[in-house]
Amino acid sequence: MVALDVPDLDSARALVRALRPLLAWFKVGLELYSVAGPAAVEMVKEHGGRVFVDLKLHDIPNTVGRATAALARLGADMISLHAAGGRAMMAEAAAAAAGAAAGGPILLGVTVLTSMGEGDLGPLGVARSLVEQVVALARLAREAGLDGWVASPREAALLRSEMGPEPVIVTPGIRPLPGAVSTPGGPAGGTRSPFSGAGVAPGPGSPGGDDQVRVATPAEALAAGADWLVVGRPITRASDPLRAARALVEEIRRATGGDAGGSDGAAGGGGSDAAPGGGSGAGAGAGREEVCAGD
Ligand code: C5P
Repeated sequence: MVALDVPDLDSARALVRALRPLLAWFKVGLELYSVAGPAAVEMVKEHGGRVFVDLKLHDIPNTVGRATAALARLGADMISLHAAGGRAMMAEAAAAAAGAAAGGPILLGVTVLTSMGEGDLGPLGVARSLVEQVVALARLAREAGLDGWVASPREAALLRSEMGPEPVIVTPGIRPLPGAVSTPGGPAGGTRSPFSGAGVAPGPGSPGGDDQVRVATPAEALAAGADWLVVGRPITRASDPLRAARALVEEIRRATGGDAGGSDGAAGGGGSDAAPGGGSGAGAGAGREEVCAGD
């Protein structure tokens, strides 16, 4: 799934046009939704894609329920909301999603923002450790009727072991394996990564100014139990986004023993768009069928 973190609708459309032959899922976050609104979701749908509307809803139950219903009518296939909004808020959203046509969107809870550390919880009045808070909010989200969570790779492993195989886990902070895919044409006839120009370092601690701290390779995230991988800048800021996406899909395929999709057809370009458990065949070995970048 590619995060369309770009400042305007035209840039988002260009990315969807370029990537849609390979990928089915796109994430519309706060930046793009703030500038383009529902048109951003409609644009992805017009290209036959599926949309994760990542607005992290957090308000009174009535407002969040009505917003969820509105986003479902718009065509959102997946929606995020803050588990800290409480049981009633999440239950209202779950009811709205259940009442939507065609099965309704997948609802994901955000537990503790990955930008927050242990020291940030005390001032909020939270006495538990960060890990305990993540698990407690994740459990609350499930009890309230949510389908799963957005989780860092580290959290994914914890939540998978604590909560079992059923919940959906979507994992951002994905960075390709350094040097995993090399192609001819680089300096002095050497190799050149398709991620060059992406403006992000290929991994934690690497030069290049990446702001993601808890990153993982696709293989690590899948091994941790992720169902969907969210990839932003390694693809969107690459000099050739389609080539970078292909390289990532190929990396996933290798990591999952060739079962991760990646060719145009298997990766979702042909329209494979199964919901969790639906068995799209574009599988990712370590997780579910729809894990791969293509679907
Ligand atoms: O560019 P990058 O691959 O880091 O993009 C990650 C995407 O996932 C961004 O859209 C970001 O907002 C989102 N995200 C995240 N960490 C979270 C939740 C969402 O990076 N905990």
